[in-house]
Amino acid sequence: MVQRSGTAIPIITVDGPSGVGKGTLCIRLAKHFGWHLLDSGAIYRALALCIDNTHVDLNNNNEIVNKTMYLDVLFESKDEEMDVYLEGKLVSSELRSERIGELASKLAAMPEVRDALLQRQRDFAQSPGLVADGRDMGSVVFPHAPLKIFLNASVEERGRRRYKQLKAKGCNVNLAQLLREIAARDSRDAQRSVAPLKATEDAHQIDTTHLSADEVFEIVLKLSEQKFGLAI
Ligand code: DC
Repeated sequence: MVQRSGTAIPIITVDGPSGVGKGTLCIRLAKHFGWHLLDSGAIYRALALCIDNTHVDLNNNNEIVNKTMYLDVLFESKDEEMDVYLEGKLVSSELRSERIGELASKLAAMPEVRDALLQRQRDFAQSPGLVADGRDMGSVVFPHAPLKIFLNASVEERGRRRYKQLKAKGCNVNLAQLLREIAARDSRDAQRSVAPLKATEDAHQIDTTHLSADEVFEIVLKLSEQKFGLAI
């Protein structure tokens, strides 16, 4: 358990590459247990949108750190989704584009950006519990989390899932291009020098390539029951 003001906060970390089903799983877990949800990718994406909107040069480290420290981002849970507000404006759909994901991945490779966002992410650990979704939740942000999950799936399957999601939202997408973008983002996220995407030794690794969202949810519910004695 993570100690906070003398109280143990149960935390489940869920890490893995893009399009692997972390978001769906985390929203369901948080809802099921009535816990808080940290979508750390949405914080990096909100920063990317802020940098994009204000035309900050990617070589201007000082200004990027400044924007990171004063990032005005708010989350509000809504049914099966999370609404994200940047400077008071609803930006949930804008954040999901591949262009913003790509920029988020570039910013996320900067050590100063990660440092500036560390405490903000840790502050999400509040009673009665937290489900944390990202790339370094189990390795860096909550290294003492009692239950760590690492999801993986083939790049083809992740591309197909993302393609279906974007199509359902009415976006015009090209599967081959999407696969290239996902592979490039994965490789940057896994090869960066700070907090690279990688499963910790104590993480439960689940290959979701041939599993439905329901099956993954059931597996993690069972692990949660064993770890926390939670009713499922
Ligand atoms: O999970 P996502 O696709 O919304 O994340 C967007 C980018 O942010 C991803 O390519 C890598 C980065 N990221 C990160 O480096 N660390 C996290 N904990 C979450 C996201």
